[in-house]
Amino acid sequence: MATILMALAESKAPSKYEVLINFLTLGRRGRIYKHINDHYLKENQLVLDVGCGTGKFLQIADLKWTKPCGLDISEKMLNQAIRNSIKRKTPFNLIRASLTDLPIKEESFDIITSFLVLSELTHKEVQKALTELIFSLKFDGLLILATESTPKNVFKRIFFNIIRAPAFLIASILVKVPKHPIHDITSLLLSYHGSIIEQKSYLGGHLTLFIYKKH
Ligand SMILES: C[S@@+](CC[C@H](N)C(=O)[O-])C[C@H]1O[C@@H](n2cnc3c(N)ncnc32)[C@H](O)[C@@H]1O
Repeated sequence: MATILMALAESKAPSKYEVLINFLTLGRRGRIYKHINDHYLKENQLVLDVGCGTGKFLQIADLKWTKPCGLDISEKMLNQAIRNSIKRKTPFNLIRASLTDLPIKEESFDIITSFLVLSELTHKEVQKALTELIFSLKFDGLLILATESTPKNVFKRIFFNIIRAPAFLIASILVKVPKHPIHDITSLLLSYHGSIIEQKSYLGGHLTLFIYKKH
């Protein structure tokens, strides 16, 4: 899902990205943002959103943070994030880089978030990205990931795919993209020094939110 969207957003129209992602996630991305804002973000934390795209999460949460920080590999998406940022009370701090090679010092952030990004990467890149993200996180800091997952229940899998079929079709016509297998994020996270303190499913299991605490 996110693979097609990301390619679409990068190559065609970052300004239209928000409409399509809201439809494809049936509004669940917004619910995830709200859940994190309500339960995990506190004032004066140093927070980084990697693969920030157009900066939607930074916009939602920016009232709590002194300096919201976003990172993305795509110049077009960052340009859209800059346009969104200048309307804000607190402009975002935006960095162009890959999450597999972060230009960030050890233990710099209290919270690092990444929404709908890991499914764009190969298995090797995901391993590299998690190592980089956890390295950049302070001790007791939180890594918050929302990524594509496979529902265990076959009926839920079919049901949600049928509902989202029109958006898939439009995105697939506009771009040709490689598809990576869905990653087992739970096993990968548990291979580091830390624990998953919350795991929540959305879209009948097509989307999973992980809250990981570094020890
Ligand atoms: C599907 S969009 C998600 C955007 C945003 N996080 C959201 O919640 O809507 C995926 C984003 O990840 C970015 N991305 C993909 N690979 C990346 C990488 N290796 N490093 C940094 N950003 C990457 C893309 O440029 C794109 O903006």
